[in-house]
Order: sequence, then C-alpha cells, then structure tokens
Amino acid sequence: MKWDVHAKKGISLLVLMSLFGLWMLLLSASSDPGDKPQFIPPSIQRGGDAQKGYQYLITGDYLKSGLPYGYFNLLNGKDKHNYLNRTGKNATVPHGYNVIRNEKGIDVVVPTCLQCHAQVLNDSLIVGLGNTMLDFSNIGHGNNFLRNLVTGFMQTVSPAQYDASKDLIRSMSTIAPMMETEVRGVNAADRLATLLVAHRDPETLEWKNEPILDIPNEVIPTDVPAWWLLKKKNAMFYNGFGRGDFGKFLMLSNILTVKDTAEAREVFSHFGDVLAYIKSIKAPKYPYPIDPILSETGKTIFIDHCSKCHGSYGKEESYPNLLIPASIIQTDSLLYKANHQNPQFIAWFNKSWFAKGDLPAKLEPANGYMAPPLDGVWATAPYLHNGSVPTIEAVLNSSIRPTYWKRDFNHPVYNSQSLGWEFSSANQPEGKKTYNTKLPGYSNSGHYFGNKLSDQERKALLEYLKTL
Ligand code: HEC
Ligand code: HEC
Repeated sequence: MKWDVHAKKGISLLVLMSLFGLWMLLLSASSDPGDKPQFIPPSIQRGGDAQKGYQYLITGDYLKSGLPYGYFNLLNGKDKHNYLNRTGKNATVPHGYNVIRNEKGIDVVVPTCLQCHAQVLNDSLIVGLGNTMLDFSNIGHGNNFLRNLVTGFMQTVSPAQYDASKDLIRSMSTIAPMMETEVRGVNAADRLATLLVAHRDPETLEWKNEPILDIPNEVIPTDVPAWWLLKKKNAMFYNGFGRGDFGKFLMLSNILTVKDTAEAREVFSHFGDVLAYIKSIKAPKYPYPIDPILSETGKTIFIDHCSKCHGSYGKEESYPNLLIPASIIQTDSLLYKANHQNPQFIAWFNKSWFAKGDLPAKLEPANGYMAPPLDGVWATAPYLHNGSVPTIEAVLNSSIRPTYWKRDFNHPVYNSQSLGWEFSSANQPEGKKTYNTKLPGYSNSGHYFGNKLSDQERKALLEYLKTL
C-alpha cells in the first residue's frame, strides 16, 4: 500500500513536472518578441509652430539645388492651378516644387515633399495624402534624357546656372537609373534613401562618387502613408523602425543635395515646425452619404475584430501602437526584410549625423509591420504597405483581391461602394500600367482578418470605416 501511495505521488510529481515543462515551453514560445504584437514605446518629440512649418514646406529651401526657374518653365510650361494659393514665382510652378533663391542670387526650382505627399482628390489638393499617381516605372529613362538636355544646354549657355543645378543633377543622374519600379503607382522612396545614404559619408554627409555601402538589388515598392496618421504613432514608417526624434527623419530628403553638416543643422532647425504642421493635419471627411444604422452595426464588428490592433475612434480615441509580427500579418515580406536584413544601411544611419546630437534618431527594424491608424482610410487607396489591394472591400475579403489590376491614372475614378479606386482585372501581366501581385515585393497576401466575417458583416464594417 505504502508503495502504491509513493507510486501515486511519484506519478503525480511526474505529471506536475511535465505540465510545468510544457508551461515553460509555452511561456518561452509566447515571450519570444518575434511572435506576438509588440508595443512601441513613445520617444520625446519637439514642439513647434504649425503655420511656420507649413510655410517652410511650401516655400522653403530644404533642398538648395534645382533647375534655374527659366529652364524649368521652358521644359514644363507654367502651372495653371496654383493649388496652394502661393504668390510670386511659386504661384507659377506645380505644387510639388518650390522656387528658392540660392546663395548666388539665382532663382531655382526644387522638388519638395509634396511630390509624394500631396494628391488631388475630387478636384482639390489634399496636402498630406500620399501621391499614388506618380510614375517611378520609367524614371531612369526620363531622367537621363532630362540630364543630357539640361546639362548640355546650361553648360554651354550659362555656367552660373549650371552651377545652381549640378548637385541635384549629380544625385539624380547617379541614382535615378537604379530607382525604377516594376509598375506605375508605387513609390521608390525607400530605394532613394538606400541609394543616397550609400553615397554620403555618415558623419560629414559629404558626397561620395563611389558608393560606400553594398547596394541591394531590389527596388522595394511602397504606397505613401498619409501624414495625418503620424500624430498617433510612436514610430515612423510601415516597419515602425523610425525611432527617436522624428524631425531627423522628416528632413532626410535634404541629403539629396546637402553640402555639409552646417547646412543640415540649419535645415533641421525648421523641422520642429514641420512636425507641428504634420501633426495638425486632420483626415479628410468622407464626402458621400453614410447609412447611420448600418455603420452602427459595423462599429460593433470593428470593436470585436479590429480595435485590438487599429484602436478605437470617435470621442474616446485610443491607439495601441502595435508592431504586428510577420507570422501574424503575413503581408508581403520584402520591405520588412530589407529593413531587418540590411545591416549596412541600419549601421550607416545609427552612426550618422542623424543619430547624434541632442535630438538623436535611430533605426530599430523588426520583422513585421505597424498596424496603422485608420483615420481617413477611405481616401488612401490603394491598400497595404505596397499598395497591392485596390479597395478596402478587397482588404476585408482576400478571395476578391485581383492578381493583375489596373486603374486610370489620368482620370482616376473613386468607387464609394468598395472604397478605393475603380479598377479592372486582367488575366495576365500587362506591363507597367498593370499592378502585378506575382512579382517579389508586390504580393497582395496577408491581413486575412476579414475573411471569417459574413458578407453582411463586411458591408456593415465598410460603412463604419467611412466614418473614420
Ligand atoms: C520620393 C517620394 C517622397 C518624398 C520626396 C518624401 N517622402 Fe516622405 N515618405 C515617402 C514614402 C514612400 C514613405 C513610406 C516609407 C516607408 O514607410 O517605408 C514616406 C514616409 C514619410 C513619413 C512617415 C509617415 C508614417 O506614418 O510613418 C513622413 C512623416 C514623411 N514621409 C514626411 C516627409 C517629408 C517632411 C518630406 C520632405 C522633406 C518627405 N516625406 C519627402 C515618400 C516620400
Ligand atoms: C492582428 C492585428 C490586426 C487586426 C486584428 C486587423 N488588422 Fe488591419 N492591419 C494590420 C496591419 C499590421 C496592417 C498593415 C499591413 C501591411 O501594410 O502590410 C493593417 C492594414 C489594414 C488596412 C490597410 C490600411 C492602409 O492604408 O493600407 C485596413 C483598411 C485594415 N487594416 C482594416 C482592418 C479591419 C477593418 C480589421 C478588422 C476586420 C483589421 N484591419 C484587423 C493589423 C491588423
């Protein structure tokens, strides 16, 4: 009998021990930060004057080299819209350019953030809306042509004018041929950053003709995130790897033409104001009718299925700032992998001028993507970080996502039923006008959270998303 008791004890101890082992195993699996949503902590940001920031963005000289005003007009003609209601010479160039006077007193036209961060929607310009109409698919070719034409012309006619553009021409002609995307409608800014950084000394920011880093082969396609989302976010970029001072990242375009760190410091001094402006932007309101009863039903579905990642909206807002690991989100991996697996780029940045000083920035890549805030999401088609899904309806139901699809870039038509661009599907790849989700980096996989809902539930959810 005694033996029996002991045996029982022995067995239960064994059971206990194995349960404990299992528990430890589970614990260690779930405590692996690679496999569960991770909270991104906030970092200190500067305050600033939003109005000044806006003026700097639309008239300032954060790039100091560009085409002389006269040549620019010759090539482009005068802009007729003046969407930004600017005065003087600025009123005559498109919204993605500023006219600035350089140190030699020459008026030059420089490209600005609004090339990529503003878009016309329903006949008005929305500053902060990502420009999804740009064409990076033939930028190399176009740029070579422009470079030859302009440099040839200016070098013979006016050396002073050539001098005003040579930094921009040098950067663009070195990197543009390596920036081509496979299709139109996706942005190559990540590529731009990689290439520019490779040609700069990290500490002095001095230009190097030969790249100092290995340049990866891929041109990663992305969509452009809306600026009004940034005020809620504790980290920048789809991958959430932009940590520390946001102003340092906001000014990154300056390395297209920067001369030295004195110039970088001067430009940086304006970016507290620019950040204040970006944070002041509100999402545009959905301009068509919304069914209040259906959207109320949709709100409940949203709270049950979506809020834990995307937060809550309305009077009492919350946003959880979560980085969702690749194993859960399952969207295209090329972007996070490039950030996560390109140690040279990360190392360059983290020892560079941008990572130094009182307001350092740093890159902390992870294997996943941030769940973005969904304010004004109706306006930001196409969807997912690579712009692979044309409508929100298709984000919520992966079975209707088109493999090959195209939209009209010249006369884009908004579809207020499915929330996104009117598109047509194709049966096969059709060159650069048709999005091709079979290409590396362009996949429309992942984010399957809407699949388990019924058609009726998805309809209600779409109605609710119109209100955000
Ligand atoms: C060539 C196009 C281009 C230009 C020019 C450009 N950006 Fe961007 N910007 C992008 C793209 C694309 C992303 C997303 C990159 C990513 O997350 O991988 C981005 C990301 C951002 C973000 C992060 C938003 C977020 O929610 O994480 C901010 C803010 C921003 N840019 C501000 C600026 C400012 C300010 C300028 C001008 C000084 C500028 N950008 C110039 C294309 C551009
Ligand atoms: C586990 C977290 C998680 C859940 C749950 C979730 N999402 Fe997302 N969502 C994400 C992430 C991460 C992204 C960005 C993915 C990417 O771009 O690769 C995203 C992207 C989106 C986008 C595209 C945003 C854009 O501008 O490209 C929409 C729309 C969206 N989610 C809606 C929803 C809705 C509606 C639900 C509820 C049915 C939901 N999500 C549930 C994490 C989540």
